[in-house]
Amino acid sequence: MIYIKNADELKKMRTSGEILGEILQMLVEQSKEGISTFQLNTIAEEMMRRHKVTASFKGYHGYPASICTSINEEIVHGIPHPDRILKAGDLLKLDIGVVFKGMHSDAGRTVCIGEVTPFAARLEEITRQSFFQAFKKVRKGVFLNEIGRAVQTCAESAGLGVVRELVGHGVGRYLHEDPQIPNYYRPELTMPLKEGMTLAIEPMLNEGTWKMKTLSDGWTIITADRKLSAYYENTVVVTDGDPMILTYMPSEKR
Ligand code: MF3
Ligand code: CO
Repeated sequence: MIYIKNADELKKMRTSGEILGEILQMLVEQSKEGISTFQLNTIAEEMMRRHKVTASFKGYHGYPASICTSINEEIVHGIPHPDRILKAGDLLKLDIGVVFKGMHSDAGRTVCIGEVTPFAARLEEITRQSFFQAFKKVRKGVFLNEIGRAVQTCAESAGLGVVRELVGHGVGRYLHEDPQIPNYYRPELTMPLKEGMTLAIEPMLNEGTWKMKTLSDGWTIITADRKLSAYYENTVVVTDGDPMILTYMPSEKR
């Protein structure tokens, strides 16, 4: 089901996204050599409590934590753990969702820990760029498949693989609403975007194959070839004119 959001819901989603952005910025800043992914989860939980929001992910299909922390070949859905200590050269994917007055927002970033290889830095950069290429297309009346087409073009022209088995999604009243948003071109997805749609656009780009597998913890998804993966996600609104990002970190706003 696609839910078009009314003005009141959009207002709540704006606040939801703003709070998310503040927490995400803190997590990015704290993501340094020596900290554990569990400590990052604790920081997120404390800030959520302080801002009177709840975690979208905790308990979602039984997911045990409030954020996802995925490192290197882990694509997404890594579970924070006290033994997972960040080290220089790691590529960390942070993913967080919060609920404010019933409205969810969902976003994530890839963070380079200490000095990473030039390739890892480029993978992060192209992934971020692929999001903004897609974001530029978001306008009422544009076909849904233009999002995936933009991500795929950006990724493949840089020689990177696009994860195909995970998708972006509608977001708002629920963490996952329709439509599903593949990150590659699907000609049949000719639904026009409508004003008031709120979408989580989340390209996941791989160094190698697009194929993935799930670890025995039932959550962590890794690249099938164990090569590097990067990810970038924002909650966006389709408007009458230019699209809007609801989940900027304060440092990204201008
Ligand atoms: N951010 C993820 C997504 O975009 C959701 C994480 S799933 C959870 O779909 F189970 F970890 F919550
Ligand atoms: Co999402």
